[in-house]
Amino acid sequence: MRILIAGSTGTVGRQIVAQLVEQGHSVRALTRNPEAALPGAEMVVGDLTDPGSLADALDGVEAMHLISFDGGGYQPLTTGPELVELASRAGVKRVTLLGNKDESGVEKALRDSNLAWTLVQPVEFMGNALAWIPAVQQGAIREPFLDRRSAMVHEADIAAVAVVALTEDGHGGRTYTVTGPEVLTVPEKVAALSAALGREIGLVELTEAEAREKWAGEGLAADIIDFLIFVYGNTPEIGYTVVSTVEDLTGRPARTFAQWCTENAPAFG
Ligand SMILES: NC(=O)c1ccc[n+]([C@@H]2O[C@H](COP(=O)([O-])OP(=O)(O)OC[C@H]3O[C@@H](n4cnc5c(N)ncnc54)[C@H](OP(=O)(O)O)[C@@H]3O)[C@@H](O)[C@H]2O)c1
Repeated sequence: MRILIAGSTGTVGRQIVAQLVEQGHSVRALTRNPEAALPGAEMVVGDLTDPGSLADALDGVEAMHLISFDGGGYQPLTTGPELVELASRAGVKRVTLLGNKDESGVEKALRDSNLAWTLVQPVEFMGNALAWIPAVQQGAIREPFLDRRSAMVHEADIAAVAVVALTEDGHGGRTYTVTGPEVLTVPEKVAALSAALGREIGLVELTEAEAREKWAGEGLAADIIDFLIFVYGNTPEIGYTVVSTVEDLTGRPARTFAQWCTENAPAFG
């Protein structure tokens, strides 16, 4: 089966590509970057904001993974209806969509279509901890809202859920919340990372104002900072409630943050 993956060079997309390639599927990986390469995948250049650029990419495709942001600060894609129409005309049967922080027109267009669509809605990615690399190298992580709880999920598990929905029947019309196997506070995350690195990492609590200043200094856009402050300070229940989606769909338990830390320890130097 030929499967087209949008967001293929991203945190989740590259895991989807790797897992599908490993299972022996024919994978077409969409990117805006003509230089991009992913092992075992056929790269195709196209831009989701310009649906016409996807015409060749969709040729012979039976299943497609979509993202719903436009690459400019994770703003919702406005080309959902055209993308879904193109996919339907090309004979695509199944579509998975990675949930964004804001719903886009892609969700509505899928609901209105005859496609077997599946919304994959992850909570916080474990991979967000990669943003701590410079702080860890300097000795201490500086974060606000240390008590916030998170059922953070491994990127490979988000991908594994999408892979099942892309390759098997019975997942059309479903929304799958995807979480890890446990709920952790920030000090618990830092303890897991310290254990994997074999050294104690400091943790300093920031006020909201200090956090805003730090993130602005790191170049985060104002609306992303507002979003982070909001979700860190008012994490919705879905963000700290473990669900069994990964195990239900893949037959094996969701990966732990300790496992993620061990796999990613080399990146922290
Ligand atoms: N981080 C979290 O904790 C979290 C939690 C829940 C949900 N999410 C959601 O997850 C999504 C981010 O996923 P990610 O981290 O896997 O993404 P990412 O690592 O930031 O990668 C972005 C990907 O999207 C592709 N892309 C962007 N704009 C494009 C366009 N106009 N046309 C074609 N491709 C485009 C990029 O491809 P090229 O650059 O190669 O073209 C790249 O492969 C967001 O919707 C976010 O809201 C994140």
